[in-house]
Order: sequence, then C-alpha cells, then structure tokens
Amino acid sequence: MDPWFPPGSFPQSRPRRLRHNPLLRAMVRQTRLSVDDLIEPIFLRPGTGVRNPVSSMPGVFQVSPDMAVEQVRGALDVGIKAFLLFGIPPVKDSRGDCALEDDNIVQVGLRALRDAFGDSIVIVTDECFCEYTDHGHCGILSERTGRLDLDNDANLTRLAAQCVSHARAGADIVAPSGMLDGMIGAIRRGLDAAGYSHTPIMSYAVKFASAYYGPFRDAAESPPQFGDRGSYQMDPGNRDEALRELALDLGEGADMVMVKPALAYLDIVRAVRERCTVPVVAYNVSGEYAMVKAAAAQGWIDERRVVLETLLGMRRAGADLIISYHARDAARWLESR
Ligand code: PBG
Ligand code: ZN
Repeated sequence: MDPWFPPGSFPQSRPRRLRHNPLLRAMVRQTRLSVDDLIEPIFLRPGTGVRNPVSSMPGVFQVSPDMAVEQVRGALDVGIKAFLLFGIPPVKDSRGDCALEDDNIVQVGLRALRDAFGDSIVIVTDECFCEYTDHGHCGILSERTGRLDLDNDANLTRLAAQCVSHARAGADIVAPSGMLDGMIGAIRRGLDAAGYSHTPIMSYAVKFASAYYGPFRDAAESPPQFGDRGSYQMDPGNRDEALRELALDLGEGADMVMVKPALAYLDIVRAVRERCTVPVVAYNVSGEYAMVKAAAAQGWIDERRVVLETLLGMRRAGADLIISYHARDAARWLESR
C-alpha cells in the first residue's frame, strides 16, 4: 500500500485531534528554528566609533571594527555565534586590489574579532570583489568575449588569494559569492597550498541574478555602474541549471552549499537538499528583509510572527543554516517564547 495513504478516512481520521492544544501541537511539530541555525551579517568599514545606519535596511549598520566587536557582543548575548563579514573599503579602483592587502578592512575586522572573542565565535567571510571595484562588478573585467565582461579565469587566482588572506587573518569559513566557473576548485587548491586545508568553503553555489539584492548594494556601496550581473549570476527561471551548479561545486570540494535568495527560491532549496548530503544554507537576503521591515513599520504585519514563520519555512524547505539580517531579533524572540 502507498505509505502516504491516509490512515482511514473521516470520521476515523480527524487530523484536528493532534491540534487540540499548544502542547500537543509543539509535540508533533516537525521543523524547528533554533538560534544555532542563524548567521548574522556584519558590514565593516574603516574607522573607530563608526555605526552608520543603512537607510534601506532599518536596524542594519555599517560598523568600524571596534563597533563590530560591540555588535558581536550583543549577538552573543542572545546566543548567536556565527557571523558573515563584508567590507566597504575607503577607496575603490578598477581591479579591487586593496581586497588582497593584509590591512584591508575585512582582514583588520577579522583580527579585531579574533582578538576579542577567540574561538567562541565562527567567522565566515564573503569572498568577492564587487565591494572593492569602482565599476561594482565582482572582479576584474576584460573584452575577451567581444564585450566588457567579468573575466572568469583571471579572477580565479585573485579569489583564491583573497580567501588565503582572510584565512590568515582568522576566518573560520570562506564563502565565495561571485558565481565564477571553477571558483571552488581554485580556492581549494589555493587554501591547501597555503596550509589551510582545514578551512571549509561555503559556496554560494546557486545564486540567482536577483532584484532582491537592491538594499544590500546600498549597505555595501557596491551597485554595478553599468549593466547587471546576468552574465555570472543565474537566470531566475532555471532549476536544472541550479542542480548543475550544485554538482560542479560539490565535485570541486564545496563543504557547504548556499541557495540565494531564499524566499522566492524555496523550491530550489528543497531540490538542493534532496540531492546532496552537505549542509545547505539559505540566504534570507536584503530585499526580503527590507520588505518585512517596511510592512511592519506601517503596522501592516506582525513582524515577530512573520519573521519566525519565514525563517521556519526556510528550514522546512531544507535549509540547515540561514543567513539573515533578522538573526538578532529572531534569536531574542525564540528566547522569550
Ligand atoms: C557580493 C554579494 C551580494 C550579496 C551577498 N554577497 C550582492 C550581489 O551579488 O549583488 C547580496 C546579499 C543581500 O542582498 O543581502 N557578490
Ligand atoms: Zn560580488
């Protein structure tokens, strides 16, 4: 018999019996959200005492390293132990060379957090060049293909060098987000050769070219100055291609895989979950956050319930971990439940 066939029909079968009261409902709840699942992003910028609000992301700030230490202290208070670092450099150029320097803002921030918290936090670093290039694309450009475009292979060694520099400064996990072909293999070889064979790679394996990244580009000051990211990020209509990207990254040695954005792509989260055995990460991106914050500010939705329901939905779709700007609030709400 089909195992999914219901155990009898009405009136023997009454699903409402198991919904009778809150204790019973909690007992049979299949999916849970825990503070251990959450990763909080941090936007670093140079200076001291800097805490600039990001206008399109209420509650999110660009912080200097000393203020990042304060941010992490506050997150630790509610149980969040994992963080994803982005950096906004003081100057940008066409190549984004400063990203590779030991005194770049992310490396400085890494050392400050490492000094303050030792091994009691997990630090993930976003690996890309769009925050560092004046044109806002995710690496150096060339006209090899007949028009100005992200140069795939020329960026691979640079990406590996960025990861090594971050690992040296104290990153626990590197997370390449540029959607370059071959990036996981190149980074793995680079890390291994530099003595970081123990450093895991969290691949932004399935990243779509999405309008939901809009507010992030305010936060990181990194919008592309011409064109869009369609020649490297994926077309939103493609599901089989997502699985191909997944297979390639696993073959190259990805230790965890991410799907991004999350909310409009939960079917992809599920498909990825069913086809691999490594941890799956969903990125609850800036536009998803901004929409909830805007509706909540109008009093149109119950922010707490909407956020917890949304994050739970990502877990139910198959995500083990969730990167979210709501992480801190969600942790607080989970604690007080
Ligand atoms: C950098 C990067 C982006 C995001 C994460 N890493 C921006 C982009 O690809 O345009 C988006 C995160 C968000 O929207 O919250 N490549
Ligand atoms: Zn980028």
